[in-house]
This record gives sequence, C-alpha cells and structure tokens, in this order.
Amino acid sequence: MKVVAPKERRDGETRVAIVPDAARRLISLGLEVAVEAGAGASAGFSDESYAEAGATVVADAAQLFAAGDIVFKVQRPLTANEGAPDELAMMKRGAMLVALLSPYDGAEPAKAYAAAGIDAYAMEWMPRISRAQSMDVLSSQANLAGYRAVIDAAHAFGRAFPLMMTAAGRINPAKAFVMGAGVAGLQAIATARRLGAVVSATDVRPVAKEQVESLGATFVMVESEETRAAETSGGYAREMSAEYQAQQQALIAETISDQDVVITTAAIPGRPAPKLVSEDMVRSMRPGSVIVDLAVETGGNCALSEAGAVVERHGVTIIGHRNVPGRLPADASALYARNLVNFLTSLIDRESGALKINPDDAIVAGTALTRDGQVVHPNYLPKAPSEETHNG
Ligand code: NAI
Repeated sequence: MKVVAPKERRDGETRVAIVPDAARRLISLGLEVAVEAGAGASAGFSDESYAEAGATVVADAAQLFAAGDIVFKVQRPLTANEGAPDELAMMKRGAMLVALLSPYDGAEPAKAYAAAGIDAYAMEWMPRISRAQSMDVLSSQANLAGYRAVIDAAHAFGRAFPLMMTAAGRINPAKAFVMGAGVAGLQAIATARRLGAVVSATDVRPVAKEQVESLGATFVMVESEETRAAETSGGYAREMSAEYQAQQQALIAETISDQDVVITTAAIPGRPAPKLVSEDMVRSMRPGSVIVDLAVETGGNCALSEAGAVVERHGVTIIGHRNVPGRLPADASALYARNLVNFLTSLIDRESGALKINPDDAIVAGTALTRDGQVVHPNYLPKAPSEETHNG
C-alpha cells in the first residue's frame, strides 16, 4: 500500500501532510511512501530529507496521485471548478483521502468524493475521546495558533510585555486579555504569561476557569443558568442566547478598555464566530493596542477585523491572518502529519498489515464522509442529528 502526499496548492498553504519523520513511521508500518517534489519546501523539508527517510520523490503530480492508495493532504483537493489541476480527478478510484475537508460547508464535496469512488475522512470531525487525542488535528493546530497569535501581537505592539526596572526607569507589564480559553486560548495565555504580561481571560464554559487560573491568569465571565449547559458532550461551546450575549458584552466592554493586547479565539463548530468585540470597544482601547483575531476565517470575533489583513482602526492594530498554524509551517506540519499517522495506524491490522476499517468504531464513524461510492456520514444523511454527533 502506498501513502502519498502532494504539494499543497491552495492559496497561502505552507504546510505539508507528510514530513520526513512521518514518512519513516509509515515505512516502519510496512507502507510505501511517496511525496511530490517540493511538497515540503515551504515548511523547510527538502526533497533530499524525504529521500533519506526512505520516501520516493515524484516530480509529476498526476503520477503521484495515480499511485496513491492512501492520500494524505492538509487541505481538501482542488476540483474541476476551482482551477487546475483537478486533484480529485487525479486520484484513483478506491483510494482513501485523509485531510481537513471543511465538512461544515455542506454535502456537495462529499457527493463528489463518493462519485469519484474516494473514501474520504474529514479530520475536523475526529471525536474528542481520549483514544483519539493523538489524532486531533484541531487541537494540534490550534495550540500553535495560540502561541503564534501572541508572538504576532508582541511584534506589532510598540511596547514590551514584561515589567522592567531599569536605570532609565520602569516599564509596566503589558495587559493581555484572551477571549475563548480553549486549546488556542490556553496556549495564548501561557505564552503571554511567559513573556511577562498580566493576563486575564474569558469563556462561556465554566470548566475553563480552573484551567485559566492554573496558568496564572485571572478568569472573568458572566455566570448564569445558561453557562452550566454551555459545553457540549464533545467539549465545545454552544451558541449563547441574545440575553446572555448582552450581559457578556457589558463585561467585555468594561474589561477591554484597559487592555494592551487582546487575543480572540472564540468559536462554535459549524457556526459563524460569535461577535465579541464591537467598534465602540475598539474605540475605547488605548492607541497602540493590538487585537489578534484568530476566528477571522469564520467571520471574526471583532467587528473590525479583516480576513487576511492587518488593519489599523481607531489607533488599534487589528491582526487577521488566515491560516495562523501555517505561520509555523515546520511544527504545524510535523504535528499534523503525526496526527494522520496515528489515525492510519489505528486502522491497520497489526497481523496482516492491511487496512481493517470498522465502520462502527467511533473514530471511523466520526470522520468517514464516504465509503464505496456512497456518502455515509450521518450529518449528511436525512434527519441529520444535531451537532452532538460530530462533537463526540
Ligand atoms: P473551539 O476552537 O471550538 O473554541 C474556542 C473557545 O471559544 C472554546 O473554549 C469555547 O468555549 C470558546 N467560546 C465559544 N463561544 C464563546 C463566547 N461567546 N464567548 C467566549 N468564549 C467562547 O474549541 P477548542 O479550543 O477546540 O476546544 C474546547 C475544549 O474542548 C478544550 O478546552 C478542551 O476542554 C476540550 N478538548 C477536549 C479534547 C479531548 O478530550 N480529546 C481535545 C481538545 C479539546
């Protein structure tokens, strides 16, 4: 069986789905590995490093795809209506595709995979069960995004983060506020603390309080009946009522005007990001302050952030980079590739070395969009259950 990873062709993608270390691991499982020439270049992995790991480097994309029994990708394959090359058309019937497939965008892509005879697995829908933690690409990538958001903020901020007592005078520590204390938010808190900022954070899930405080930050939140049920069984947040949002707005407005750096990470799977920072709140901040909006690709937490841009509004720098994990392409690729290797390992029968896929296994049932030419994911079938299904 051959596992292949092509060069990622979508705009702004710097990551690669197999790094040399992952190639070694796949080979030790008895698999063959091939990558497209230049596939790792933007993440700092040379063709030679893949060859040294035992992988074949293939110059022609069509030849690579045609040889792949299993295709590892970062982003979903390009299709005919998205411009050349049509990556989906290059894949062989019966191949398995493992990637970030943007499954919330609707069933159309899944229908195309089924029609092409591709067994597609969407890594976004990996259930959040302990057995699948090592396969959780959202966590591995969000963790790096949280770190990078603070580094980007520090770079744009015209002041230092730590308290400094110098012969020339005292520099006060920066105040950082992190909105959304999930995987990205907790790493942002830890990073800002390490740099010496005074950090506070908010979330709608009460369990976040202990995690935030254990990192040495202050937790602020509107507590209500509603927040007791704000967490789904999968650990994600629910969308809050209009009444709750109004109370939360008041708390944020009060907190934010005194902050130097705001990192927003709030998200609800499959839904637009909650709008937490209004234009008035931005106006209330001191000139020179910085906002990093990590939710920019799902509409943004800040009313003034622009996807893919750094803008200055009312004297505040608002950073809206897309694909923030891709700003650390070497580490993001290494962790992503490891997630995929762990996933594939769980599907391989140890004795025969062949794929042995149990459709009823939670990891398979959660991620498999298509099988044998059919769309199989319950979210795409009539009477799709609620978000709970794919949130574990
Ligand atoms: P996410 O990326 O969907 O959301 C980020 C954060 O935004 C979450 O903490 C969420 O509660 C918060 N949020 C949503 N709406 C908000 C609002 N209106 N105001 C303020 N905050 C809001 O979530 P993420 O970071 O992927 O995971 C959330 C939690 O899931 C983690 O903290 C952890 O407890 C759990 N988890 C469990 C795993 C496992 O058991 N395998 C793996 C990873 C995470």
